[in-house]
Amino acid sequence: MEAVLELEIEAEKVHELMNRAQAAYRQAYIPYSHYPVGAAVLFASGEIYSGCNVENVSYGLTVCAERNAIFQAVARGERELKGIAIAVPTDEFPSPCGACRQVIREFAVDCPVILINGQGQTKKTSLKVLLPDAFVGLV
Ligand code: THU
Repeated sequence: MEAVLELEIEAEKVHELMNRAQAAYRQAYIPYSHYPVGAAVLFASGEIYSGCNVENVSYGLTVCAERNAIFQAVARGERELKGIAIAVPTDEFPSPCGACRQVIREFAVDCPVILINGQGQTKKTSLKVLLPDAFVGLV
C-alpha cells in the first residue's frame, strides 16, 4: 500500500501535507468536544489547503476539519483532489467521518488518505478502502 501511495504523491508533498495538517489542528475551535482535528488537502494545481474543525453551540452545525479544508480549496477554484492528511494530538489515529468521506469522493474517485496521531505516527490508507461502493448519484 505504501509504495502505491508514494507513487501517487511525491514524498516532499506528503511531508508538507502532514506538517500542514498538524499545524491546522492548533486552530481548532472546539469548546464542546475538546477534540482538535486538522486536515490538509493537495489539489491538482499543486496547492495545499488546510482546515480545522469549527464547532457550534447548535452541535449539528459543526464543520469537520476535512470539509473545512476541501471547501476552502473549492472556493479558490480547485476541483481535483490528489490527497488528504488528517492529524490529531491524541494517541488514537483519526478517521474521517462518513459525511467527510462522501465529500472527499465528490472531488476524488480515489486518493491517498494519511492519518497522523499525536506521536507523529502515520497510517496510510485510501478513499476506496474507506468508502467502497460510494454513492455516485443517478447513473
Ligand atoms: N471531527 C472532525 O473534524 N473530523 C473527523 O473526521 C471526525 C470528527 C470533529 C467534529 C467535532 O468537532 C469533533 O471532531 C468531535 O466529533
